[in-house]
This record gives sequence, structure tokens and C-alpha cells, in this order.
Amino acid sequence: MEVFPAGVMVFPTVPSDPSGVRWRMAKINLISGFLVLLYASIIRTHATDTLSANQILRYNETIVSPLETFELGFFNPGNSTNSYVGIWYKKISNRTVVWVANRNTPLTDTSGELTLTFQGVLILRDATKGNVVWSTANSSTSKSSMRTPIGQLLDTGNFIIYDEGDSINQEDPIWQSFDFLTDTLLPGMKHGWNLVTGTERSYTSWKSDDDPGLGEFSYWIDTRGYPQLILSEGGEIKLRAGPWNGLRFTGTPTLSPNRFYNFTFVINQREIYYQYNLIDTSVITRLVLKPSGRLDRLLWIDRKQEWSLYWSPQYDLCDQYALCGPFGNCNIEKSPVCECLKGFEPTSPDQWKTTDWSQGCRHTIPLDCNPGEGFNKYSNLKLPDTRGSWYDQTMTLIECEKMCKRNCSCTAYTNSNISGTRSGCLLWFGDLIDIKTNAENGDTLYIRMPPSELDSIANGKSSGTGRVQVIVPVAFVVLTILISMCLFYRFNMKKQQQQGTPRSVNEDLELPLFGLRTILKATNNFSMNNKLGEGGFGPVYKVML
Ligand SMILES: *[C@@H]1O[C@H](CO)[C@@H](O)[C@H](O)[C@H]1NC(C)=O
Ligand SMILES: *[C@@H]1O[C@H](CO)[C@@H](O)[C@H](O)[C@H]1NC(C)=O
Ligand SMILES: *[C@@H]1O[C@H](CO)[C@@H](O)[C@H](O)[C@H]1NC(C)=O
Ligand SMILES: *[C@@H]1O[C@H](CO)[C@@H](O)[C@H](O)[C@H]1NC(C)=O
Ligand SMILES: *[C@@H]1O[C@H](CO)[C@@H](O)[C@H](O)[C@H]1NC(C)=O
Ligand SMILES: *[C@@H]1O[C@H](CO)[C@@H](O)[C@H](O)[C@H]1NC(C)=O
Repeated sequence: MEVFPAGVMVFPTVPSDPSGVRWRMAKINLISGFLVLLYASIIRTHATDTLSANQILRYNETIVSPLETFELGFFNPGNSTNSYVGIWYKKISNRTVVWVANRNTPLTDTSGELTLTFQGVLILRDATKGNVVWSTANSSTSKSSMRTPIGQLLDTGNFIIYDEGDSINQEDPIWQSFDFLTDTLLPGMKHGWNLVTGTERSYTSWKSDDDPGLGEFSYWIDTRGYPQLILSEGGEIKLRAGPWNGLRFTGTPTLSPNRFYNFTFVINQREIYYQYNLIDTSVITRLVLKPSGRLDRLLWIDRKQEWSLYWSPQYDLCDQYALCGPFGNCNIEKSPVCECLKGFEPTSPDQWKTTDWSQGCRHTIPLDCNPGEGFNKYSNLKLPDTRGSWYDQTMTLIECEKMCKRNCSCTAYTNSNISGTRSGCLLWFGDLIDIKTNAENGDTLYIRMPPSELDSIANGKSSGTGRVQVIVPVAFVVLTILISMCLFYRFNMKKQQQQGTPRSVNEDLELPLFGLRTILKATNNFSMNNKLGEGGFGPVYKVML
């Protein structure tokens, strides 16, 4: 098609006076142009991975990606006689559909016609009734300068529409099936939000194996606060997979690195999404949300010719959203499963006793915005619901604590990213809901406490960061002195032995002993001034030698 204008370009070079020449040249140009067009259209129909403008794809006709990985065409799901346009694996005998165009508007017979308009809009028409049942008209980023629109099925399973005149457009198509997930997440698809266009990519189960229509279950990313993955049934949360902590979703601790695929969660100004990619490209894997609400990671086993379950989130009683109420913690190892977090008590003890935990727990000693309030550390948890939370990906944990402390409605904080050196700040305001004990791969949360409830130093990090930092070097100095004294003592003992004292059998095991007088002197009669603090074995004193 590019040849046409090129041929016309020859015109000016033709001498203008002999009238017949000009006409002949024009005729030749027309004919050659027509041949080029004809040739191009022959090529087109043979290039089975594309759909060109005005070409019609009918029932029983398909488009196949270059390496024959995926196929696009009409199909009838299960026992249904309704037909749909979809994409499935070309090489898998038992047809596995990964994408459906007209999932809610089936064709009742085989008269469907899929065409691409010159404006780059994909249209599915019912040829018997003559109506359009589905189109991309409202979902494509229209370009007025569209010259040669083309649809192409890629080996990733993505069907893209772009302007053939501009190869760069393949990277930035005007429409792509990867932007409209059905019930399957394929490698390279983005599950989440394009914040620039405000579009959401989430996936929803089929109604049944016979009906790809929008089912009850959706898997989506809630961005009200720090982004978290949610599997919902109707409008209800079925599973809160939890916020991303840099390594995994805190509600799905079993999702771990493996040799088949890697995964990532991206949070920036432009996008928020989860994505996985194949490490071993010979592997065929998909993540599918079944009509039953099960989220399955499946691997195709070629030898057995079947899909095998590789991973699925573990649901237990504790995954029931907010089962233990605010500030309640669900621990599947305990019976009953709900308990109040340390420092909290049941809001309604009578209801709590009858295993109605919905009222949750409250502070044993209420908070009153006292400046002495601090934070206690809680470990091995699934982090609470992050709706209404606040985050900053650059702050440190110390800055995060300060930030939370400043605002009396801030109830908890933690690092938003525990990968590497741990960074970022995540703050909760108000009730902490849907906490669960994850014995394995659990997360840490710092919860606001009244001054009297703050853990002592022995229990680890608390609001007394400063004290911990001071006591460590002092304790180190004391220890060094004690060890030196002990070595000195033993050295003298050895010297005595060498001078003829008989060696006792137990001697090497004996602990160094100091006379009371030495210790009294060294600690200034156990003076309070020399006391450093209390350790596990009793008071600790500074010694003066
Ligand atoms: C599709 O192909 C099958 C098998 O070749 C044939 O029986 C059927 O009539 C075809 N349907 C249409 C609409 O062409
Ligand atoms: C199709 O119908 C058969 C026989 O009624 C049934 O056993 C099978 O489960 C159905 N398949 C689907 C996908 O519904
Ligand atoms: C094909 O897939 C369906 C649905 O996943 C399944 O029920 C059926 O057993 C499979 N058939 C074979 C032959 O593997
Ligand atoms: C995942 O693996 C692919 C292929 O090896 C690689 O290109 C990509 O950078 C990896 N992504 C992450 C997040 O590690
Ligand atoms: C505390 O945080 C809440 C929630 O972000 C906010 O509405 C409120 O203005 C903050 N208060 C102060 C004193 O910063
Ligand atoms: C989390 O921290 C790691 C290591 O510092 C870094 O590579 C990664 O980009 C961070 N992730 C996010 C979402 O900030």
C-alpha cells in the first residue's frame, strides 16, 4: 500500500508535452498499484496471526499466534450452544479458554462475524439479526490519524489492535485484550490499576463451566489506603490476601519464590499492579478464578495431558474476614480461635464467651492521647485491613514511629517494605481489623499503647528506643571488663599450677569467683549510682577497677 504514493511520485519526471505518454504512465502506475494491493491482501489472508481492516472472521475460522501458542476464534463453552469469541491455548487438546470477548452477550447460533473497522474498532456482529453484540468502541484509545489498523494475536495470548503504519504502536496499542481480564491471569498480564487513565484490571469468575458470564467472585486490588489484594464474593470480602510487603502478600504467606515463575507488585505514581513472568518459558501456567471461587495456580503437564494444581491460597476459619472483630487476633492453632491482642480485652465479655467475636476487643487501659504513649511490637501477624491507611515508601521505621506518635488517631505502624534493608512506612488509623497469626512468614506490627502497658526492654523494641541504644554499649563495656578480670584470674591460677600446685580435674569447668570484698569495692558497695538496670539474672552494676 505504501507503493501507491511512491508510484505516483514518478509522475513529475515524465515529460509533460507528449500527451499519450502521460496517460500510459498513469495506467501502469494504477495497474502496478492494484497488483501490490492484491498481493498484500493475499499475504494478509495467509498471515493467520492477524485480522486486517474489513476482514471477517466467521465461526470455524481462527487466528493463530506466530508460534502457535494461542488461538482466537468462536467457541461453545461446556455443553452450551451459545457461542463466544475467545482465546485459548492452541496446543492443549482439552480447550482451555483464557479470555472471552462477549462474556455477557452470547451469540445463540453460529452466525457471528468478527470484524475490524477502518477506525480500529473490533466488532462482533450477529449476522442473522444484523446487530452488534460486542465491540471495543468504548474501550479503545481512539486515534484520529489511524491509517492502517490491524489486529494481531501475540504468543503471549494478547490480542492487540494497532496502526500498522507505525510499528512503535505495537508497544502502545490502541486496544489490547490484556487490559480486559476475564477469569485468568496469564504471564505478563498486569493485575491492578493504570492510575493515569484510571482503568482497573481485575478478574472475575465465570458463572459456570458452561457460561463465561460475569460470576460471583472477583479478584481485585483495593487502593483505598495502602493497596491490598481482595477476593470478593458478591460485594463481600471472601479473602483479604493482604498488603504487599515487598516479598509477598501478608495474607498469603505460602506464595513463595519458585523455579517456574517470578512475581512482582509495583506501586508508583502511574501504576499499581501484580504481575508474574515465566522464568522457564517452556512452562505453561495460569492463575484462574474458578466459578466456585477457588483461585488456582495451574501447570500444564504435557505427559499426562492435564492441568495440575500447583498452588492455591490456603483458606481456613481465620481467613473469614474480620472474624475476631477489631483488635482481635485469629490463631488457627488455638481453641477457640479468637483472642484479644496483648493489652486488649473483649469489648463485650458475655458475647465473647459465646464465641460471638464480632464486637472485638478494646484497650484494657484506654488511650487518652497521653504524650507518654508508645508502641508495643507484635510479631507473626497478617497485617490488618489497610483501607483508610496511609503510606510513604521512602520513610524509615524511626520516622514512621514519630509520624504515628504525633497523631493520636494513629493506632499502628510498620515498614511497608520488608525486602532488603526494610523501608517505607505504613500507618493505620482507628480499629485494626482482620488480624491473624501467621506462624510462618508473619509480619511485625507496632501498636499504640498507654504508658503503663508498654513492654519493658527485655521484651525487645518498644517506645524506649533511646534507652536500648544507650544500654547496649554500656553492657558491652561491663562484659569486656568482667571477661578481662576472669582471664587475668585464670592466668594467675595457671601460673600457680605451673609452680607445682596439683591440677584439679574439674578446674577447667570452674567459673571464676570474685571475693565479696572485690565486688563491693568495684561496685562502690552496690551503689545506686553504679546500677545500670535489671537483667534476667538480677540487677546489673557498673564496676570501677
Ligand atoms: C464448522 O465445522 C464443523 C465441522 O467441520 C461443521 O460441521 C459445521 O457445519 C461448521 N459450522 C459452520 C457454521 O460453518
Ligand atoms: C455436560 O453434560 C454432561 C452430561 O449431561 C455432564 O456430565 C457434564 O458435566 C456437562 N459438562 C459441563 C461442563 O457442564
Ligand atoms: C477437560 O476439561 C474439563 C474442564 O476443565 C474437565 O472437566 C475434563 O475432565 C477435561 N477432559 C479431559 C479429557 O481432560
Ligand atoms: C523475572 O524473570 C524474567 C525472566 O528471567 C526477568 O526478565 C525479570 O526481570 C524477572 N522479574 C523479577 C521481578 O525478578
Ligand atoms: C491524624 O490523621 C487523620 C487520618 O489521616 C487525619 O484526618 C487527622 O487530620 C490527623 N490529625 C493530625 C493532628 O494530624
Ligand atoms: C523494597 O525494597 C527493596 C530493597 O530495598 C527494593 O528493591 C524494592 O524496590 C522495594 N519495593 C518497593 C515496592 O518499594
